[in-house]
Amino acid sequence: MTLPRHPSIMIVGAGPVGLCTGIALLKDGHRVALVDSGAHGAGWASGGMLAPLYEMAADPTCPDPYVQFALKSAELWQVLAQTCAVDLQSPSLFLARTQEEVEVLLGLQQRANRLGLEVATVPVPAGLRAQAAFQAPSERSLDPRAALKSLMNQFQSLGGDLLVGQANAISPHRLGLLDGRTLEAETIVLAHGFNATSFRQSVPTLKALRPVKGQMARVAHPELASPIVRAGRIYVLSRSGGLVIGATSDPLAPPAPSVDVDPVLTLLSEAKELLPSLATAAVVEAWAGLRPDTPDHLPMVGASGMDGIYLATGTYRNGWLLAPAIGAYLTELISGKTLDQDLMNLFAPERFSS
Ligand code: GLY
Repeated sequence: MTLPRHPSIMIVGAGPVGLCTGIALLKDGHRVALVDSGAHGAGWASGGMLAPLYEMAADPTCPDPYVQFALKSAELWQVLAQTCAVDLQSPSLFLARTQEEVEVLLGLQQRANRLGLEVATVPVPAGLRAQAAFQAPSERSLDPRAALKSLMNQFQSLGGDLLVGQANAISPHRLGLLDGRTLEAETIVLAHGFNATSFRQSVPTLKALRPVKGQMARVAHPELASPIVRAGRIYVLSRSGGLVIGATSDPLAPPAPSVDVDPVLTLLSEAKELLPSLATAAVVEAWAGLRPDTPDHLPMVGASGMDGIYLATGTYRNGWLLAPAIGAYLTELISGKTLDQDLMNLFAPERFSS
């Protein structure tokens, strides 16, 4: 089947990266269709963190061009959030539970200051257990479930088409669906996270993609004074009148979206150390997702090595944060514009091919 209005670009995956890329391409004048299976992906399961300082700059080995790309994306979010009516929560409170964590956060404070961003030492709020606290006004988060709906509204109101179907075969300019349909487009962008590995035989660069399972829980507990509280791998988000607690991170777990007892118990017990009043809170929901990761934890964005097929995946812990900048980057790449060579080298999907 050929689409009635033949799209020039077909994006697989209506998660944050697929939607933001679709919106950017539509604004640039392309005809775009999104193909999505309708199943919950990593974007839905995520905490919705927009945290370039905590997630990237805190790691002294994280390359500067990547930190700058993430900071640019955080800025793009400010505009996109207004256009699409997405609520952004801020500030973030970073807690140090040990002297080692104090050192890490002091290092982050220095790098943030060099980047012109504020990370201020503040008292540890009542009810939280930590040695030191730092407040970062520029670190934000969003509610992924609400944001996915808002971005989809924006995509469709700009003229984008949504096709519901499970992509199960790919070749240059052609996408096969499980229900037997074949869709055609000049350009195909694979933005369906770890699920893109189902095409690894046809698109060998996808062999580098691996899952890192994450699990989270929602508990009935009064919201905290700071909407985002982070300590080590734990984040506690005040959302919809309760708390969302994330997240486990298991690269060895089988790639199944099951909620597993031991990891969730450990997560909740670590969160309770930080916030003792959690002891009597009711767990109302727990869920899991698969982060799409790469060997160097940097995304794969760019030409796949197959004619007309681009990748926009491998965003690891930062799909929501990076989505607008990936959308802008891919739009320029597909339109034949010159891009920053450092970023092209960092993101090239073929960097793992020997
Ligand atoms: N961005 C936080 C996480 O992946 O858990």
